[in-house]
Amino acid sequence: MDERILLIGFGNMGQALVRGWLARGIQPARLGIVDPAPAALAAAAELGIVAGASLDAVRFDDGAPDVVLLAVKPQQLDAVVRTCAAPLGPAPLYLSIAAGKPISSIASALGPDAKVVRAMPNTPAAVGRGMTVMVASPSVDARGQAVADELMSAVGTTAWVRDERLMDAVTAVSGSGPAYVFLLIECLAKAGAAAGLDAALARTLATATVAGAGAYAEISGEDPAELRRKVTSPGGTTEAALRVLMAEDGLAQLVERAVLAAANRSRELSGT
Ligand SMILES: NC(=O)c1ccc[n+]([C@@H]2O[C@H](COP(=O)([O-])OP(=O)(O)OC[C@H]3O[C@@H](n4cnc5c(N)ncnc54)[C@H](OP(=O)(O)O)[C@@H]3O)[C@@H](O)[C@H]2O)c1
Repeated sequence: MDERILLIGFGNMGQALVRGWLARGIQPARLGIVDPAPAALAAAAELGIVAGASLDAVRFDDGAPDVVLLAVKPQQLDAVVRTCAAPLGPAPLYLSIAAGKPISSIASALGPDAKVVRAMPNTPAAVGRGMTVMVASPSVDARGQAVADELMSAVGTTAWVRDERLMDAVTAVSGSGPAYVFLLIECLAKAGAAAGLDAALARTLATATVAGAGAYAEISGEDPAELRRKVTSPGGTTEAALRVLMAEDGLAQLVERAVLAAANRSRELSGT
């Protein structure tokens, strides 16, 4: 991939993306970074990437950026997009990872033909195991989608939706989802300690079990319900626990209510 990529915002997510790109062989000379934070500029310099506190301080030798990846906080996004409007205009592909910011709010500052991809990654991107779901404006062609996919797949798995309204459900499942899983680890560890285990050992068991079961479900590709049945012997210990978790108004109903609450909140926050 030979595109010139300008990354605006070199915080947690920006740094995870750059680590992924470099690991995939994208050359530092194809990257530029804009971020006003001195620590971010120092981190970019260490990687041999040209960086500056503002857009006009970052230039590629051979032309304008082909892709502008917007990785600032959602509340900073509108101002940042406005700074792109005059010098860059609608020509580059704009790939935004700002949570809850609709395509229209980005395109309106850049012009009706602006090519915008909205992406929703999640925090496991920090270890290259993120889940990113994307949606593109109609002006993004197949090449633009392929470029966006390649950039985001450097930090994990990718998927696309056609209807932007589905991004609220995506946010509720994979965007906020890591927090639900962290809570599960906390609960399992606490319950293990209550059952008599040393707290540190209980946490190790809970973390390794959630990570291992997740990897097993992913790598085997088997239906998780089938995997669950395989560890559930009739009259055994797992069955005793599942009888509690799968009771009426149990875990399934609780998770459904939680996901609906998150999706509703996502709609409220994005004003859609
Ligand atoms: N972290 C995640 O797992 C995750 C998941 C899904 C979506 N996202 C989205 O990813 C985006 C970035 O999140 P993050 O966790 O990486 O945030 P972050 O760590 O705060 O990074 C944002 C960076 O942008 C810099 N910045 C602020 N104003 C700027 C400007 N005008 N021009 C250029 N850079 C500027 C910030 O500098 P200062 O610190 O000095 O302000 C900071 O270094 C957010 O929109 C978030 O919704 C993140």
